[in-house]
Amino acid sequence: MILRFAGLDDLPAMDRLEKECFEYRRFPIPFLVDFILADGAYTLLSFTEPPGHASTAMGAIMFVVQNTEKGKVGRVASVSVLEKYRNQGLARRLMEEAETIMREAGASSFSLEVAVKNRAAISLYESLGYVVAGKLEHYYGLNEHAHRMEKKAD
Ligand SMILES: CC(C)(COP(=O)(O)OP(=O)(O)OC[C@H]1O[C@@H](n2cnc3c(N)ncnc32)[C@H](O)[C@@H]1OP(=O)(O)O)[C@@H](O)C(=O)NCCC(=O)NCCS
Repeated sequence: MILRFAGLDDLPAMDRLEKECFEYRRFPIPFLVDFILADGAYTLLSFTEPPGHASTAMGAIMFVVQNTEKGKVGRVASVSVLEKYRNQGLARRLMEEAETIMREAGASSFSLEVAVKNRAAISLYESLGYVVAGKLEHYYGLNEHAHRMEKKAD
């Protein structure tokens, strides 16, 4: 597996991941562009080997390190893996890599939002040490509630 930061050339691959994994709730292309270009924002992609044109982007993670009153905090905006490549530890690997980068950038904690119905993702985050810190009512739409989950960086 090849892991690298996304560039603008990767927009079609990122859009494919977004479409397959999030359907109508996907991030629009202009948001993906902003995320690739913004300071403090990171997008990591994992590709099949060998590198080259035939290489497929199997998964992605988008995250930011933000300055707050409490210092720097990391926030995971999205993690996605194409269905064909699931259950092989790819999301765990992407999360661990993102945490390392956020920690090195000075984040003292990590947070994310996840739909309360998304058992697979909640189980992934719990297995990595995230705990539910609050419920966000109607976060993804009417009756589409979310958990806010957090983890200390150390
Ligand atoms: C959630 C998602 C990213 C998991 O990707 P993945 O590469 O298959 O996950 P991994 O193989 O790294 O699994 C790691 C852990 O997550 C949990 N997990 C993953 N898929 C699961 C499932 N279908 N059911 C229950 N637990 C699951 C398990 O705890 C697993 O650990 P284990 O293999 O030791 O049991 C993937 O299903 C996905 O892209 N879903 C659609 C997009 C999405 O919902 N993203 C999260 C938005 S907040």
